[in-house]
Amino acid sequence: MFNTAFLDLPPLAHASGEVTLPGSKSISNRVLLLAALCDGATTVHDLLDSDDTRVMLMGLKQLGCTVTPLGGNTWHITGLAAKLPVKQADLFMGNAGTAMRPLTAALSLLTAVHGGAFALSGVPRMHERPIGDLVDALQQLGCPVSYTGQAGYPPLHIGNGQPSALNLSEPIRVRGDVSSQFLTALLLALPLVAKHDIHIDVVGELISKPYIDITLNLLARFGVTVQRDGWQRFTIPAGSAYRSPGDIHVEADASSASYFIALGAIASSAGGQNGIKIQGVGADSIQGDIRFAEAASLMGAHITSGPNWLHITRGIWPLKAITLDCNHIPDAAMTLAVMALYAEGTTTLTNIASWRVKETDRIAAMACELRKLGATVEEGPDWISVAPPAPGGWKPASIHTYDDHRVAMCFSLAAFNADGVPVRIEDPKCVAKTFPDYFECLFSVADAAPGNVPVICIDGPTASGKGTLATEVAARLGYHVLDSGVLYRLVGLSAQRAGLSLLTEDVARPEHAGRITALASAMEVRFGEGRVWLGADDVTDAVRAESAGMAASAVSAIPGVRTALLDLQQRFRQLPGLVADGRDMGTVIFPSAPLKVFLTASAETRAQRRFSQLLGRGQPAIIEELLRALKARDAQDMSRQHAPLKPAEDALLLDNSTQTIDESVAQVLTWWQSKQPF
Ligand code: DC
Repeated sequence: MFNTAFLDLPPLAHASGEVTLPGSKSISNRVLLLAALCDGATTVHDLLDSDDTRVMLMGLKQLGCTVTPLGGNTWHITGLAAKLPVKQADLFMGNAGTAMRPLTAALSLLTAVHGGAFALSGVPRMHERPIGDLVDALQQLGCPVSYTGQAGYPPLHIGNGQPSALNLSEPIRVRGDVSSQFLTALLLALPLVAKHDIHIDVVGELISKPYIDITLNLLARFGVTVQRDGWQRFTIPAGSAYRSPGDIHVEADASSASYFIALGAIASSAGGQNGIKIQGVGADSIQGDIRFAEAASLMGAHITSGPNWLHITRGIWPLKAITLDCNHIPDAAMTLAVMALYAEGTTTLTNIASWRVKETDRIAAMACELRKLGATVEEGPDWISVAPPAPGGWKPASIHTYDDHRVAMCFSLAAFNADGVPVRIEDPKCVAKTFPDYFECLFSVADAAPGNVPVICIDGPTASGKGTLATEVAARLGYHVLDSGVLYRLVGLSAQRAGLSLLTEDVARPEHAGRITALASAMEVRFGEGRVWLGADDVTDAVRAESAGMAASAVSAIPGVRTALLDLQQRFRQLPGLVADGRDMGTVIFPSAPLKVFLTASAETRAQRRFSQLLGRGQPAIIEELLRALKARDAQDMSRQHAPLKPAEDALLLDNSTQTIDESVAQVLTWWQSKQPF
């Protein structure tokens, strides 16, 4: 996940390949609750790992469910069999409506039957999200539920310790025109007490019907068949009881799929590749947002589908502008608004009043951010129309994301613009609500034109603090890091292990140099989780040793070694960007890098730093010797014939002798920002 303040997307060129999408949030949290309420154990496969499901899992554990992770996204859940082993708990629901509403209903009924007392609360935003219609319905039934803050909103208190009588003979009336989650909550909870037929009557026009379909579908998977008369009356038959299906697979999230469907429609495939394949959800999905695929087809996407997969390629290009009633796909329709940037003409999305009361006012948010990119946008109470920027009229934009995961995800698609302008996504971690690895997933299939992936080079002498600076700058920007010194150290280590001399006069002999070059070409190097492997050996500590540094310096004078490592280093240049540190990053490896920093500090300062570093690691050191060795290494690195250590002509010099790390980081980030168009 990108934990940075912003994520800069360079202009993207192509996209192709396969993605496996995370599980649907709506299905995940419903399945978790059903597994928790039913009799027997359930193995849930492909569960979404996100803020909202974590809240639900934690709540279920607190209620006495056995919840066991089986690795990957598989969980084993032993149900409560409609009992309540824990009688008291404070449950924190974060901002997860899909946990708050159904747990409120289930706990209200369970406490009425078994006694108990529970508190349910969430983040401040959760305390602004209405729950009054659900509480009204539960109170009608005789459930002891009350508000502990403002009436109509969480936090809630449920249960008064004692069982209480339930009145289930009258039809239960619930409003359906504010949130369909109230009806879902009742549908999930009432089978716990269905001694007789229970009727639910919906008051007002039911919104978001596709979500009720998901609920009914999953209830059936857990053994409860609800009868439905239109969308007005639902009946839970007498004797209904939950039974575990044993194993259940969560479909991939169809709303998340919308970004990759759009991607396939917008981005051309790199040579020989063929579109985007989405695994985990197919056209037969039980999720309403799958109908986004039809809308995308209307705009020009070419889509084929099978059980649990979708395949998308560019069809009509540019896309076709459409006018569409989007009431049936409110969440995924935001993606259409961004696709409109690539259409000929004006696209109008209607019947989307619910956008105004979601994570943010989504109509206002989309209009504001689309305009920043150069689009012409009009909006009304329940509609939005979008005309794309004129050719050459795209503007680089810093997209504000309003703590709304969908704003962040759909605007990433703007980076495919033909004008080659970059897009900045602010607060990219907000995608964690439903798709924590969204950007990683995007980068696994998207690529930029060669040379468009940003690189920051940080070169300088030994112990100047390049590594620390590079790592910190990369962390702030969400970029990859290349510590090129490690590659030379690995060559040095390989040569030492092969018993090859590293004396200057030996290294200068072509035949001897040829052997070391052959080792460099054949090295099998692997990086991961802060470790370095050479073949099967973990050499993380060995490469850090002073002797490995000297060995690296010796082998780095061999031109063949430098050539052998060239390609390996350039392959680190991957989306969204790279910070590379070494001696020749700016001069040889990435000569066109937009920012090159040459980092120095006095030899004495560097020796002192190395000394403290070694002491910190518990390794004895003598400062005078370090100073001597360091000067020798400088001399060797600067005097070698090939790619000697020197600043690139366009490098900015940074002497950090008297700077803290934070100050150096801030300086480099300021230089970087000054080169951005945002
Ligand atoms: O940065 P370091 O101390 O890990 O580098 C070890 C040696 O590798 C250094 O003394 C010279 C060589 N090197 C190089 O020649 N070119 C690079 N880009 C990085 C390191």
